[in-house]
Amino acid sequence: MLSVKHLIDTYSLTADDITQILDTAKAFEAVNNRDGIKKVPALRGRTIVNLFLEPSTRTRSSFELAEKRLSADALNMGGSTSSVVKGESLADTIQTIDAMNVDMFIVRAKLAGTPIKITENTDAVVINAGDGKHQHPTQAMLDLYTIREHFGHLDGLKVAIVGDLAHSRVAGSLAPALRTMGAHVTLVGPPTFQVDDPTWFGCEQTWSLDEVIEDMDVVYMLRVQLERMEGAVIPSRREYNRMYGLDIERANRMKENAIVCHPGPMNRGMEINTEVADCARSRILNQVNAGVLTRMAEMYLLLGGEDNGISA
Ligand code: CP
Repeated sequence: MLSVKHLIDTYSLTADDITQILDTAKAFEAVNNRDGIKKVPALRGRTIVNLFLEPSTRTRSSFELAEKRLSADALNMGGSTSSVVKGESLADTIQTIDAMNVDMFIVRAKLAGTPIKITENTDAVVINAGDGKHQHPTQAMLDLYTIREHFGHLDGLKVAIVGDLAHSRVAGSLAPALRTMGAHVTLVGPPTFQVDDPTWFGCEQTWSLDEVIEDMDVVYMLRVQLERMEGAVIPSRREYNRMYGLDIERANRMKENAIVCHPGPMNRGMEINTEVADCARSRILNQVNAGVLTRMAEMYLLLGGEDNGISA
């Protein structure tokens, strides 16, 4: 059992919560990697609503796959296909769906705070699948899973989170989760992208990627959130790439066993170059695979799945 009813952010999770999620995801790996039927009855009879009010490829498809793997019944709703476009408030939409006796809402929203608001209008469990600049906790769990798979542990690792820190719900979710698990976090970005108070995360912050890259076990490149910027805060795509982009020359200076991560979608040639995104150090597709496993684990644990599911 997790110590939280809903999964809204990572700073509410204890080390034990995170370990449970990662260990349960590991147990689901055998199901997901089967040649035959990739399905267990763990959430049979449970109804999960996927409410995606903002575009998503990875998160949405991995939640849908995870629900199928767990035998849950899924209801898919998007912003443009619900009565929200006719002027219905989100609270009324949630109460309407809630009246149909569903068990869980998975919520992706442009507006920060939407998932927590939804918890006030339903007794169902809510998972935040990314809300504005606020949080993306399920991304952080798949990141931790991927890193732990490579190193066998998280404590003591040195992780650089590089790029658009100020606009990034990924950084805001990953940094606290890494700190909870005993990793050291260095935030790297140009002054216009830096966070106001990195001590809130218990992190260090620097503007120079070149000064820290050789010391890092994980270099986690953030997508430059062009759609969330109000005005030009970077000089140009090429200049950003020269100062903060992970090119092959920088990647070759990393420790022998160090890895590269990115949450996707990537701006190739901006924060990461193609030869690095596709190189042996890259764990980007491992992250995508881990998304199905960790989301299975989160839904299973939050819905109080019985042990019959994992081994069946
Ligand atoms: N990383 C991530 O959240 O990607 P999507 O926006 O495609 O879901």
